[in-house]
Amino acid sequence: MLNRRSFARLAGAAALAMSVAMPAFAEPVVIKFSHVVAPDTPKGKGAEKFKELAEQYTNGAVKVEVYPNSQLYKDKEEMEALQLGAVQMLAPSLAKFGPLGVQQFELFDLPFLMSGYDDLRKITDGDIGKDLFALLEDKGIKGLAYWDNAFKIMSANSPLHTPDDFLGLKMRIQSSKILEAQMQALGAVPQVMAFSEVYQALQTGVVDGTENPPSNMYTQKMHEVQKHATMSNHGYLGYAVIVNKTFWDGLDPAVREQLDKAMAEATVYANSIAKDENDTALAAMKAAGKTEFHELTAEERAEWATALQPVQDQMSGRIGADLLTQVNAALGN
Ligand code: LMR
Repeated sequence: MLNRRSFARLAGAAALAMSVAMPAFAEPVVIKFSHVVAPDTPKGKGAEKFKELAEQYTNGAVKVEVYPNSQLYKDKEEMEALQLGAVQMLAPSLAKFGPLGVQQFELFDLPFLMSGYDDLRKITDGDIGKDLFALLEDKGIKGLAYWDNAFKIMSANSPLHTPDDFLGLKMRIQSSKILEAQMQALGAVPQVMAFSEVYQALQTGVVDGTENPPSNMYTQKMHEVQKHATMSNHGYLGYAVIVNKTFWDGLDPAVREQLDKAMAEATVYANSIAKDENDTALAAMKAAGKTEFHELTAEERAEWATALQPVQDQMSGRIGADLLTQVNAALGN
C-alpha cells in the first residue's frame, strides 16, 4: 500500500520523468566539471551541490563528474580544455580570464574597490555581470553564475604591516595584470603561477608569499609554510561558472531547463556558505598556530590604500574607461 508521502514522491518522479524523458537504456549526458581547489571549499561544495541537484532534477539523464584539485587540468589548461570540449563546465576565478582575451573580468581584482559582498552583488547581479558574460560568447563559452569565495589576505614569512614590508618580496599571483600592478605598487615582485604549484613554491622559497582567501590557504596547507598573514581584505576572489557554449546550446531544452534550475539553487547554496567556510578555515589556521595573523591598524590601512590608489588609473585602459565609470557608478563612488 502506498501512503500519502510515497505516493507524492512517486507522482513527483513521474512528472519529472515526463519533463525530462530519457529513452530506455540511453546513455546519460556527461558533464565533466573540472576545478582547481579542494572539495572542502565554497567552490568544491558548490560543484557537489550542482551535481546532486542536476542528477536529481534530470532524473539521471545527466551525470555530473566533478574533478577537484587540478586533477584533470591546471588553470590555463582547463580554459583550453573547455573551449575544446574536453570538459563541459568550470568555475575559474574571475582573475583568470585575461589569457582568454576577456580581461574586463579583472575589474574584480582592483584593490579596495569593493567594501564587502553587498558591493560585489551590485556588480555581479546587475547589468555589468550580464555584460561580462556576453563577452564570453565569442570565445565559445557561456557564463551561468557568479560564485563567491571571499576577500583576500596577504601572507609571507615576514610580517606585512605596511607597503615597505613588501619591498622585493616575490609574491605569487593569479594570471591577472591588475594583480601584477597591485603587487608592483606595493613594491613586490609578482610571479604568475598555477594554483596547484603554490604550496610547493612557498615551501621551497621559489616565492616568498601570496594572497588568497582563508579557505584556499587552509585547504592547500599554505599556513604550514607561511609564518605571517595580514587580514587586509584588500581584494575579492570569486568565480564565474562557465560552460562550453556548443555543448550547452545543443542540450535538449527540457534538460537545460532542469540544469538551469539546479545551477540557480547551487549558486544560492554556494554563496550562502562562502563566508562561514572562510571563517572556519581562518579559525582552524589560528588554532594550528603556525601562522601569526595581523590586523591592519587604521594608519596601516591608509598606507596600503595610498600605495594602491594609482592602480585603478593605471589599469583603466585594460578594463576600459567606460566600464570602469559604470562600475564606480554602480558602487556609488
Ligand atoms: C588561485 O589561483 O589562487 C585561485 O584562483 C584558486 C581558486 O580557484 O580559488
